[in-house]
Amino acid sequence: MTYNILEKYEMVPTVHLMKIQAPDVAKATKASQFIILRIDETGERIPLTIADFDVVEGSVTIIFQEMGKTTKYLAKLTTDDTLQDFVGPLGCPSEIEKLGTIVLVGGGVGVAPIYPQAKAYRKAGNKVISIIGARSKNLLILEDEMRTQSDEVYITTDDGSKGHHGFVTDIVQNLLEGDEVINRIVAIGPPVMMRAVAGVVEPFDVETLVSLNPIMVDGTGMCGGCRVSIGGETKFACVDGPEFDARKVDFNLMMSRLGLYRSEESEAVEHYESECKSKTGCGDECTCH
Ligand SMILES: Cc1cc2nc3c(=O)[nH]c(=O)nc-3n(C[C@H](O)[C@H](O)[C@H](O)COP(=O)(O)OP(=O)(O)OC[C@H]3O[C@@H](n4cnc5c(N)ncnc54)[C@H](O)[C@@H]3O)c2cc1C
Ligand code: FES
Repeated sequence: MTYNILEKYEMVPTVHLMKIQAPDVAKATKASQFIILRIDETGERIPLTIADFDVVEGSVTIIFQEMGKTTKYLAKLTTDDTLQDFVGPLGCPSEIEKLGTIVLVGGGVGVAPIYPQAKAYRKAGNKVISIIGARSKNLLILEDEMRTQSDEVYITTDDGSKGHHGFVTDIVQNLLEGDEVINRIVAIGPPVMMRAVAGVVEPFDVETLVSLNPIMVDGTGMCGGCRVSIGGETKFACVDGPEFDARKVDFNLMMSRLGLYRSEESEAVEHYESECKSKTGCGDECTCH
């Protein structure tokens, strides 16, 4: 069985949206779950969060950033292509309930996994305050969608081109020091951002969850590739997570494990790009795969 690509476009430079026909996955999905896909028989398995799903259409939407060989290859696919494997939903769904005021923090492509959470928390009757950040305004994704699912939206950019000039953590700090009672914070983005959020919330008594993105292989708890340390205990992010209490995560260990295969990953990209260019002769403007 292969999976049809129903829609595919570049949202902002190097970040792509892809809608895939996968009715069984759509039917079973809940907020914060992910899929593992493989483009073809020889491809690497990569995990991506389900950014949206439509049970009636039988579709699942993923939003991904070009990082290395597989995501660059995925970015070149069109609606004429198919995916070999699309396994999911994987991971534990978020425990969504009516708590009061929820602050959702999304950084970069991390805004994509925050979006289904905004929908779910809103549907459960919570007040949703969203903080979405990017390096610059041209890299900001899902602003309109987040506005429709949030009671308040704060935007931050590192270069000050839109919203608050600074980091998402500045707004988290302001909210925590303000008068509003915050019942839960959920932060998703690059590990450095999630570690910074964990640092800001440390002195406050507010439950804070982060969605971890260690290297995953099988996604079923068998290989041990995604092990993380939570409050000194070893957990597997694929079956025990991906959401964990921010204040218990050993971010330094997770970040060092993420870098374990950096030289192999660089080699794979170089090989992929040179093979592609030599096949087609289209040079640096290569758009083939
Ligand atoms: C649960 C989960 C959900 C994720 N959701 C998203 C998402 O919604 N959008 C998105 O853009 N990215 C997401 N990621 C990260 C995404 O899986 C990696 O960017 C992708 O695997 C990189 O593959 P590559 O071959 O293009 O890059 P590579 O060159 O192989 O790697 C680039 C970097 O990506 C990370 N990475 C590589 N392989 C894996 C792997 N098998 N599992 C996890 N990380 C890996 C490492 O940090 C590595 O240094 C998620 C990761 C996890 C664990
Ligand atoms: S990915 Fe293999 S144990 Fe989690």
